[in-house]
Amino acid sequence: MSNRLPVHIKTEANKYLFERSVGGLTTGLINLFKKMKGYWIGWPGINDIPNKDKSKIYNKLKKDYRYVPVFLRNDEFEGFYNGFSNSTIWPLFHYQSMHTTYDQSQWDTYKDVNKKFCKKILEYAGKKDVIWVHDYQLLLLPGMLRKALPEATIGFFLHIPFPSQELFRLIPWRQEVLEGMLGSDLIGFHTFDYTRHFLSCCLRLANRENEFGMMKVDNRPVYADTFPMGIDVKKFFDFRTKKNKPVLLNKDLAKKKIILSVDRLDISKGMLERLISFERFLEKYPQWIGKVTYILICSPSRTHILNYQILKKKLDELVGNINGRFSTFNWTPVNYIYQSVSQEGLIDLYRRAHVAFVTPLRDGMNLVAKEYLASRNDYKGVLILSEGAGACNELGEALIVNPNDVEQMADSLNNALMLPVDEQKKRNKIMITRLRRYDIYRWGEDFMETLIEKGKKGEQLTNIELTEPIMNRIVNQYKSAQRRVIFLDYDGTLVTSSRKNEKVLPNNEILKLLKKLSSVKSNRVVLVSRRNRKILRKWFSGCKYLDIVAEHGLWIYRHKENSWEPLEQHVDSEWQAHIRPILETYVDRTPGAYIEEKPHSLTWNYRKSDPALAEIRLREMTINLLSIVAGKNLEILRGNKVVGVKLNNISKGKAALRILEEESEADFMMAVGDDWTDEEMFASLPETCVTIKVKYEELSRAKYFTKSPKGILTLLDKIV
Ligand code: UDP
Ligand code: G6P
Repeated sequence: MSNRLPVHIKTEANKYLFERSVGGLTTGLINLFKKMKGYWIGWPGINDIPNKDKSKIYNKLKKDYRYVPVFLRNDEFEGFYNGFSNSTIWPLFHYQSMHTTYDQSQWDTYKDVNKKFCKKILEYAGKKDVIWVHDYQLLLLPGMLRKALPEATIGFFLHIPFPSQELFRLIPWRQEVLEGMLGSDLIGFHTFDYTRHFLSCCLRLANRENEFGMMKVDNRPVYADTFPMGIDVKKFFDFRTKKNKPVLLNKDLAKKKIILSVDRLDISKGMLERLISFERFLEKYPQWIGKVTYILICSPSRTHILNYQILKKKLDELVGNINGRFSTFNWTPVNYIYQSVSQEGLIDLYRRAHVAFVTPLRDGMNLVAKEYLASRNDYKGVLILSEGAGACNELGEALIVNPNDVEQMADSLNNALMLPVDEQKKRNKIMITRLRRYDIYRWGEDFMETLIEKGKKGEQLTNIELTEPIMNRIVNQYKSAQRRVIFLDYDGTLVTSSRKNEKVLPNNEILKLLKKLSSVKSNRVVLVSRRNRKILRKWFSGCKYLDIVAEHGLWIYRHKENSWEPLEQHVDSEWQAHIRPILETYVDRTPGAYIEEKPHSLTWNYRKSDPALAEIRLREMTINLLSIVAGKNLEILRGNKVVGVKLNNISKGKAALRILEEESEADFMMAVGDDWTDEEMFASLPETCVTIKVKYEELSRAKYFTKSPKGILTLLDKIV
């Protein structure tokens, strides 16, 4: 669901024409959508379509593209699109509070139109479908959908910045906006700062606390997380432009050094400041006069809104002034094109431009910057990029500028034009490699997989205490089964945790229980621990039939083979070099804290620190860590007095699944654990598995909880 569909309809000579839409949301998602199943529901770009034509358009869009149009009337469009969406949310979220208006009737229409979208989707969505809502025009939709389809999996992605709470709180209907978004299971943002701002608004304005981005809403977990949107790098990189056929440049122009910018004509894009800095560049570096042309592509956008009309007028004047002042009979400094350019045309231009001048005042992401780099299959060219663009987080090798600093931008233009080709290639290669790794497909997969995983959780928020009758029920299930697999964590689950090894050594009672349980032929008992594999073998050498998963899932020991097998052959530990210094800083600043290092994880333990101090450090440290792990194969997990960063592909959950693959006959499964690493195990096991957590935690995925290892030992004793 998004407001705009990837095509919009135009009328010409009483005919309907379908044209490609511009703007990052649709240009970015179109290829991803083609690879997915389902429908894209949105506004078709034209209003007040006569009833007689609606079904024709509806059928064509649905049949040819899998798009479902939501038709709007002009008055609806006025209040919803020109009004609340683009005169309240857009300017405010781009930090232009002086251009923001707050109008009750526009807000009412915004609500009505969100309802209209909701009604349309209900014609299509089943009770348990996955619905992905996009962007600021539909902020209320997740909440409306949640009411209508409580079991659906609902994701929301915001393609624009989420502002600091100081700005957000200016909206008179701020509470309703937040509650609308919180109807989702997962809310995605382009950068960690936007995520952080959102969480801070939820805390301060809606009194919703969060734990590592997870909030509890009506007994459901809602997650906020960072997913920096990529582009189809391969498509841009491999695109073949027609040889000797410049799509857009004439011969004279092709001989000049080209500075290029491509934007929708928008108040957030910093076009005026950019032009002023270009003028300053010509003043300051007159050697470039006659040799450089600035191609300024502005695609018409939101032309009915006064602020956009004023901007257009100022831009026209400024271009006129600069051209009037510097032009010669055979050279014009600014080549101003107020039209939309096709993607093929843009790629051609990107490849010919010596400098891409991308300086929005604020921009959620800015795909143009990424497209410029991805098009450069010769790795040449220089990107000048504003620090106000979300893309700046990923493109640090560009020449970074403050979009209000005219002198700096003018100097950057000169520096860019002087930058040696070797240096250009070096920088661009790094950035293009990074863009390739997290392209639009990875981004889509990442969001969807996270959404589906988090969406599942909604059903299991409250867990049940492991009472005697429940134990008896479990024992009966155990008895009537033919083949059983039992996963048992050790520290904190069978013994109370302690830093001192001598205090957690398995006692006779535990050894006897494990021995008995594992020697039943139809049982497979697996000890699943974070501990080192050698220690585990030593401690449990008396249990001949016990299998062991050690070091959080990295190693699997099968008693039948009497050998250890690694879960992954190659464990990349390069990432630790980036994470360790951060953890070390916080060890230095938090007496008692220490780091534990494993090939696939680094943890910061604060069991022995002052809890209040540790809590403060923890929050700060997590903010730092989150920005580093975003978009990588890493995750942050929090456990009992420990915070860890670990590789996604190694976990107790993955190891448990590996074992289950060998146990297709199993008709009784049980998993017991006490911390975050065990939560991963609970999450990956089938629904039918009996899961028990040794600690009450509101958001645990385990079905049952018990307060101490004693409860587990009692249960095991009943079983054997
Ligand atoms: N675009 C286009 N033709 C134009 C101007 C822009 O196809 O004349 C496309 C551009 O290639 C990019 C998108 O519109 O994919 C703009 O996305 P961006 O994230 O840079 O900014 P937004 O318009 O979403 O604010
Ligand atoms: C940005 C917004 C999109 C929007 C696009 C074009 O990318 O995030 O939601 O569709 O601009 O703006 P328009 O108003 O033409 O849809």
